[in-house]
Amino acid sequence: MATSIMRVHTLAAPLFSTFIFLLCFSSTVLSVSFSKIQLPPNATGPEALAFVSGTGQFCTGIADGRILKYQGPTTGFVDFGFAAPNRSKSVCDGTDTANPKPVCGRPLGLALHHATNRLYVCDAFFGFGVLGPKGGQVTILSTGADGEPFRFCNAVDVHQRTGDVYFTDSSAVYDIRQIETAISTNDSTGRLMKYDFKTEQVTVLFRNLSGAVGVAVDEEAKFVLVSEFIINRTIKIWLQGTKANKFEIINLQPMPDNIKRTASENFWLAAAMIKQGTQSLVPIGQRINASGTVLQTVNFERWYGNKSISEVQEFNGLLHVASRLVNFIGVYKH
Ligand SMILES: *[C@@H]1O[C@H](CO)[C@@H](O)[C@H](O)[C@H]1NC(C)=O
Ligand SMILES: *[C@@H]1O[C@H](CO)[C@@H](O)[C@H](O)[C@H]1NC(C)=O
Ligand SMILES: *[C@@H]1O[C@H](CO)[C@@H](O)[C@H](O)[C@H]1NC(C)=O
Ligand SMILES: *[C@@H]1O[C@H](CO)[C@@H](O)[C@H](O)[C@H]1NC(C)=O
Ligand SMILES: *[C@@H]1O[C@H](CO)[C@@H](O)[C@H](O)[C@H]1NC(C)=O
Ligand SMILES: *[C@@H]1O[C@H](CO)[C@@H](O)[C@H](O)[C@H]1NC(C)=O
Ligand SMILES: *[C@@H]1O[C@H](CO)[C@@H](O)[C@H](O)[C@H]1NC(C)=O
Repeated sequence: MATSIMRVHTLAAPLFSTFIFLLCFSSTVLSVSFSKIQLPPNATGPEALAFVSGTGQFCTGIADGRILKYQGPTTGFVDFGFAAPNRSKSVCDGTDTANPKPVCGRPLGLALHHATNRLYVCDAFFGFGVLGPKGGQVTILSTGADGEPFRFCNAVDVHQRTGDVYFTDSSAVYDIRQIETAISTNDSTGRLMKYDFKTEQVTVLFRNLSGAVGVAVDEEAKFVLVSEFIINRTIKIWLQGTKANKFEIINLQPMPDNIKRTASENFWLAAAMIKQGTQSLVPIGQRINASGTVLQTVNFERWYGNKSISEVQEFNGLLHVASRLVNFIGVYKH
C-alpha cells in the first residue's frame, strides 16, 4: 500500500494530497473498533454493568446467579457476590440464561453509589438489596412494597448526591421464567420504587408499568426515565415540581431495555430495530436526550447478529455492551 502510494505521489502530487486528505478524513469518521471482554468459562448472560469510578473495573450479574467483578485485563473476572442465600457453586455455576434457577438467583440491575461504595442489586428472584465493597452475600433490603411482593426485580439506578435509589419490579404476577407469558398477556403490573437512603424506607412511586426493565434518574433527581419493554416505549416520570408523579411518553423504539445516563446528561438506551420486510431484530444503542430525542444510533448487528442486548453504557469514552445471550462484554470505540 505504502509503496504504491509513493509511486502515485511522484506522478500526481496535487491529486494525491487530495486523495490522502479524503483517506484520513473518512477513516476518522468511519473508523470503529469492537473488542470483547470474555467472561470466565461457564459464565454467560451479563445483564447490567456497574463501573467503579476512575478505574476500568466493573461488576456484572450473570445467568447463574453470580455477580462478577472485572479487575482489569491481567486479573480478569473474580466471583464477587450473589443474592441466593443457599447458592451452591456446584449446582449453580454454569446455569445458562434460558434456565434461570430460583435457588441460584439471577442478579439483573446493578448500581454503585460511589460515595459509600454500596452496590445496589436487583435480583430477579430475591428482590432489592445491597453489597458492600468486599462483596459476598447480598443483604436484602426489600422483597415487596405496599403488601405486594416483588416477583421480578429488574432495574436499579442510584442518585449519587442523595444516595436515594430507584428500582423497578417488572411484574407483580410473572417471574423471569414467565417472560413470554407476561408479553403475550400484556402484563401491566410493574412498579417503580424509591429506596430512601436516610430513612431506609421503600415507597412505590408509580404503578401499572408494562415490563419496566430499565430505569435512570437524572442528575438533579427531577425525573426518572423508565423503559416499558412489553409496550415498546420509554417514559419520563417526573419526581418534582408541578408535574410530579405525571408521565410523558418520550421514545418509541421497540424492545427498550436498560437506560444509562452519560456525564453530559444524555442517556444510552439499549433497544432494537426490526429489519424492513422481516421479523428479524437488529440490536441497537440509542443516545437520547432528556426529551427522548435520538441524538445517535449505533447498530450492533455486526457483532451480535439478531441477539438482543440489555445495556449500553458509556465509560471513559467507550461504549460497553451487555447482553443476556452472549458470554462477553462488548467494547465499542468510535
Ligand atoms: C463448566 O461446566 C461443565 C458442565 O457443567 C463442567 O464439566 C466444567 O467443569 C465447568 N468448567 C468450569 C471451568 O467451571
Ligand atoms: C435455604 O436453606 C434452608 C435450610 O435448608 C431453608 O430453610 C431455606 O428455606 C432455604 N432458602 C431458600 C431461599 O432456598
Ligand atoms: C396486547 O396488546 C397488543 C397491542 O396493543 C394487542 O394487539 C394484543 O391483542 C393484546 N393482547 C392481549 C392478550 O390483550
Ligand atoms: C393499576 O395497579 C393497581 C394496583 O397496583 C390496580 O389496582 C389498578 O387496577 C391498576 N390500574 C389499571 C388501569 O390497570
Ligand atoms: C413491540 O415490538 C415488537 C418488535 O417490533 C413487536 O413484535 C411487538 O408486537 C410490539 N409489541 C406491542 C405491544 O406493540
Ligand atoms: C435469529 O436468527 C436465527 C437464524 O440465524 C433464527 O433462527 C432466529 O429465529 C432469529 N431470532 C430472532 C429473534 O429474530
Ligand atoms: C432534545 O433535543 C431536541 C432537538 O434538538 C430539543 O428540542 C430538546 O429541547 C432537547 N431536550 C433537552 C432536554 O435537552
